[in-house]
Amino acid sequence: MSRAEHSDSSGNDVGISARPDSAAAEELAARGAARIEWIRSRMPLLADVRTEFTATTPFAGHRIGMSLHLEPKTAVLLEVLSAGGAEVVATGNHGSTQDDIVAFLRSQGMTVFGSRADSIDQHHRNVAAVLDASPSILLDNGADLVAGAIARGQTIFGGTEETTSGGTRLRGELAGDIPFPIIVINDSLLKAIGENKHAVGQSVVESIMRITNLRIPGRRFVVAGYGWCGRGIAHYLRAMGGKVAVAEIDEIKAFEAAMDGYRVDDLVNLASWAEVLVTATGHPDIVAPDILDRLENGTVLANAGHFPWEIDTAALYASALSTTMLDDAIERVELPGGRHVILLANGRMVNLAGREPKGNSLESMDLGFLLQALSLERVATGAETLVPGAQAVPDDLDREIARRMLRAMAAGR
Ligand SMILES: NC(=O)c1ccc[n+]([C@@H]2O[C@H](COP(=O)([O-])OP(=O)(O)OC[C@H]3O[C@@H](n4cnc5c(N)ncnc54)[C@H](O)[C@@H]3O)[C@@H](O)[C@H]2O)c1
Repeated sequence: MSRAEHSDSSGNDVGISARPDSAAAEELAARGAARIEWIRSRMPLLADVRTEFTATTPFAGHRIGMSLHLEPKTAVLLEVLSAGGAEVVATGNHGSTQDDIVAFLRSQGMTVFGSRADSIDQHHRNVAAVLDASPSILLDNGADLVAGAIARGQTIFGGTEETTSGGTRLRGELAGDIPFPIIVINDSLLKAIGENKHAVGQSVVESIMRITNLRIPGRRFVVAGYGWCGRGIAHYLRAMGGKVAVAEIDEIKAFEAAMDGYRVDDLVNLASWAEVLVTATGHPDIVAPDILDRLENGTVLANAGHFPWEIDTAALYASALSTTMLDDAIERVELPGGRHVILLANGRMVNLAGREPKGNSLESMDLGFLLQALSLERVATGAETLVPGAQAVPDDLDREIARRMLRAMAAGR
C-alpha cells in the first residue's frame, strides 16, 4: 500500500495543513516529542504491546484512518500502531488538536491533517481527507469516518469506535448499513471502571481543588447522577473528607448510593444543603430554575457530564443581575435577593477546564488505548471471529487486558 497523498479531492488547503515547512515545524515537533516522553514512560501497557507488535506486525499492509483527539496520549497509541506495521493517516477533533503533537507525528512519517485553529468546515475537510487516503481500517470517534465510508461505498476491513455517542449512532442511524465489524471500545466494563469511575472521579475532584483552591474535608457536596462518573466523583470526594449526598432518578442506583453510605434524596431537596453541586448525568437542565432558586448564597456549581447543558446556564444568566469572571474558570453570578452562585468553567466539563487541565490519569488512558490497540489487532488478524456492525470488545480481550493491568499495578509500573 503506497503512502497517502497529502492533498484532498475537494481542492482545499489540507495539503498545506498536512505538510507545513521548515524550521518552525521542526521546533514544534521537538516540543511535542519532549511532552510525549513523560506520557509514554507512564503507559506501560502500551509499551509492552508496542514490543509485541514490533515483532508480529499485525497491521502490515493496512492503512489505519483515525479521527480522535490529537494530544500526547493519542500520539503514544499511534506510535504503537505504526510499530505494528500500520500506515497511519489521522485527524483530530474540532478545537482540541495540539499543534506540537501534530508536528511530532508528521516528523515520524505519519500523515496528519488539522491544526488547533481549524474552523469546523476545515475540520470536516480533514475528516474527508482521511477517507480520501483510502484507509483499510478505521479508528473512529463519533462514527464520522464510518458514516463517510459507507456514504462513499468505500471498502473497509473493520475498525473501532471510541465513544458512547458513536456507539449509539452505529446502533441507531447506521444500524444495518455497516458491512464491516466495528468494535465499540466504550462498551467495555473495564473502561467504565478504569476511566468513567476512577479516572473521572479523581480528575473532577482534582480540578475542583485546582480551580477553586477550596478545602474538601467537612464541606457539603451534592453529586447529581450515580452512574459510573457520579460513583467515582462521590467516592473521591468522600475519600478526601467531604460530606457527600447523591441525587439519582434510577431507584436501583439510588439504592446502591444509599447502601454505599451516602445521603440520598431528590435534587430539589438537596439543593439548599449543597455548598458544591456537581452534575454527572449526561442529561440537560439538571440544575434548572427550580434548583437555582433553592441554592444558598455562594454555592459552587460544576459539571462533569459531556455536554455543557446539565447546568441550565441560559436560565442562570437570564436571572443574573451581573456576572464577574474571578479567574479563567470561576464566574461569580449575582442573583436577585442578595445571593450569588459560583459557576465553574461556564458549565463545561470541569476536569478539562482551568489552567493546565490534566483530564483523566495517564494509566486510565493506557488502559483505554490498550483496549484500542488489541481490538484493532483483532480486526486486522481475526476478522472472521467478528460480525458486521457495532459490537462490544470481545470478552477474552477484556479479560486479557484486566490481567495485564493487574500485573502492571502489582509491579508498581
Ligand atoms: N468529564 C469527563 O472526563 C467524562 C468522562 C466520561 C464520561 N463523561 C460524561 O459524564 C456523563 C455521565 O457518564 P456516566 O458514564 O456516568 O453515565 P451513566 O449512564 O453511567 O450515569 C448517568 C446517571 O445519571 C442519572 N440521571 C439521569 N438523569 C438524572 C437526573 N435528572 N437526576 C439525577 N440523576 C440522573 C442516570 O440515571 C444514570 O445513573 C456523560 O455525559 C458522559 O459522556 C465525562
